[in-house]
Amino acid sequence: MGEDLAPGYANSLAGEPPEIAATIMPDNDDKTSPGYLDYCRCWLDDDDVAGVVEVLRSGWITTGPKAQEFEGAVAEYVGARHAIAVNSGTAAMHLALAAAGIGPDDEVITTPFTFCATAEVIEYQGARPVLADIDLETFNIDPAQIEARVTPRTRALLPVHYAGHPCEMDALLEIARRHKLLVIEDAAHAVGSAYRGRRIGAIGDATAFSFYPTKNITTGEGGMVTTENDDLAARMRRLSLHGMSRDAWNRYTAAGSWYYEVVDLGYKYNMPDLLAALGLSQLAKLERFNEIRARHAAAYHDGLHDLPEIIAPRAQPQVRTNWHLYVIMIRPELLTLDRAAFIEALREAGIGTSVHFIPLHLHPHYQRRHGWKPGMFPNAEWAYERVISLPLYPKMTAGDVQRVIEAVRTIVARHRK
Ligand SMILES: Cc1ncc(COP(=O)(O)O)c(C=O)c1O
Repeated sequence: MGEDLAPGYANSLAGEPPEIAATIMPDNDDKTSPGYLDYCRCWLDDDDVAGVVEVLRSGWITTGPKAQEFEGAVAEYVGARHAIAVNSGTAAMHLALAAAGIGPDDEVITTPFTFCATAEVIEYQGARPVLADIDLETFNIDPAQIEARVTPRTRALLPVHYAGHPCEMDALLEIARRHKLLVIEDAAHAVGSAYRGRRIGAIGDATAFSFYPTKNITTGEGGMVTTENDDLAARMRRLSLHGMSRDAWNRYTAAGSWYYEVVDLGYKYNMPDLLAALGLSQLAKLERFNEIRARHAAAYHDGLHDLPEIIAPRAQPQVRTNWHLYVIMIRPELLTLDRAAFIEALREAGIGTSVHFIPLHLHPHYQRRHGWKPGMFPNAEWAYERVISLPLYPKMTAGDVQRVIEAVRTIVARHRK
């Protein structure tokens, strides 16, 4: 391997990851259709089941001691002072914006190359999402594009660590400091990623993680927002449960008190203990999961990087990516089929794929609401027409990865111009 090793692979192996329990649930191995390699599968073990059953048997299933324990574990893992467990990554981002007081007439700069949740939470606050195009190396927001879009109304940056590859945080923090902006990170993809030796989660003002089933660890549905800021943390915690001064665990237990006050307009975003139990057992396996992802990514790199028709992703040396996604770009000018036909050919070969993302400015809602049009963010569109997310998850075997490589190589060989 040597030179050909995907950058980010070697440094992601630093330190000994904990062993994963050998007891993989047998029914977990069933594929949705025989012979078909799913785009995505969760890894759930007996310890995940045991954690959830323990909560069920305890009789207290909503937000309580397990959610608190999960918050402590995530805060420690990412190195942040505070972590607030919520019921989605979307809720985590929204809480951060709401607690930061982002409101009508404010502008928040984000990327077009993301899931709709990133922009919708800005609109929930009555604020205006402003898009800055991506760089074509990492598909992350381009700091140079941000500069041109800062106005007196800009209040925050909302960068997305696309595919788990951290954004250029030094540049983003410098822009934010100069213009007095908050940095709220959409780290839905980036649990376990690091930028210049620091884990994502304690770099910007607040960081939002997702534990949706496609993510590197899952709670079914769930999210977490982390911050170093005590005031922001207190506000986010209050807003996560109706703006109440006291949560249920602190009202219903022997040591609790019935009295509470609603001090703000809040939301119903709290994470139940049932889900937090899954989060704890999954978090214990995260380093090992990410190590397997890195190994699969390196195998993909070895198997694909020599094809001129394919551009394989590379991690920059200053980051550790968690390889949340493995996104290749095809070069349609060298092929007789386009991206949609390439995906169809992979499906016929029994391989599931996905596309991350349809740029925000191509969706009807955003076009109507903000007047965004095709052509406004050419890098995002250029990438969109070429990207394919190949299957990449720890449950895949080395043989599964080779099967995908062979399928890609066969399609390229058949359709080379
Ligand atoms: C970039 C990005 N941001 C935010 C989210 C939202 O996370 P959740 O589904 O947990 O609300 C996703 C989810 O899939 C995502 O990919």
